[in-house]
Amino acid sequence: MNISIIGSGRVGSSVALNCCMRELGDVLLLDIVEGLPQGESMDINHQLAELGNDCHVKGSNDYQDMKKSDFVVIVAGIGRKPGMTRMDLLKTNAGIVKDVCNKVRTYSPESIVIVVTNPLDPLTYLALKIINSDKGKVMGMGGMLDLSRFKEYISSTTRMSRSSIQAMVIGEHGENMLPLVRFSSISGIPLSSFINNVQSSEFVTKTRNVAAEVISLKGATVYAPGNAVSAMIDAISRNRRKILPVSAFLEGEYGYSNVCLGVPCVLGSNGIEKIIELDLNQEEKEMLTNGVESVKTAIRELPI
Ligand code: LAC
Repeated sequence: MNISIIGSGRVGSSVALNCCMRELGDVLLLDIVEGLPQGESMDINHQLAELGNDCHVKGSNDYQDMKKSDFVVIVAGIGRKPGMTRMDLLKTNAGIVKDVCNKVRTYSPESIVIVVTNPLDPLTYLALKIINSDKGKVMGMGGMLDLSRFKEYISSTTRMSRSSIQAMVIGEHGENMLPLVRFSSISGIPLSSFINNVQSSEFVTKTRNVAAEVISLKGATVYAPGNAVSAMIDAISRNRRKILPVSAFLEGEYGYSNVCLGVPCVLGSNGIEKIIELDLNQEEKEMLTNGVESVKTAIRELPI
């Protein structure tokens, strides 16, 4: 497999390292900054050499090097500063992602595209429209990241092994994200058997807010995003048919159309093989709707 990562900053490099550690294939790190992708790739290759890992990372400033990639990961754009929401990045990052997607359409139109740049759901929609690819082959990484945080809260509060936790987070990768306690369990035992309603609400609030806390402390979230992207590529490239939350283009699912939103998807060799519709209660539907409205408002401002 050939994986091209557009954007070689802290997150892009973390994606590269995580993909190599999972032995998913060779990686191209692309960036407009001269030297950055080259330096990052050398550093990662040195780690891989000592490990005896034969995945190779190449750094480049030339988009032509991404020709015929199996996967393209779009990380390019600015990250938020403390106090900003992901949606505050829309105007700046939409222009960057539009330019990147035009190059993807030129050099690697058949690739499976994973968008990471925020605001994630509107920019996933932008990528799908510009690359004009099959809707199953363009997706956003947001829910996987929210899920990792949700699982950490569940594990740290219940003191149960992280490996026993099954959880789901859907909706906007933003202020209206929806961690689903009702669809989460520990070794198949409903999560509600382990936590009370107050804790349930706390989990939701903390999952929504923790990225901003990490950013205020260290400037960016890095390792969890890198892992989340590589987990999606693992599921697709190895045709695992795993159900994972990813931002997908909806055509009537959950009652919504012409929008990208985090929903449970079966990921396999064709990318998004199927969207799973959960039986949501009224409160969950309302939160999902809030997210749809937020994303649709942003979509109307996109340079399409
Ligand atoms: C986060 C950013 C990547 O949630 O949206 O860490």
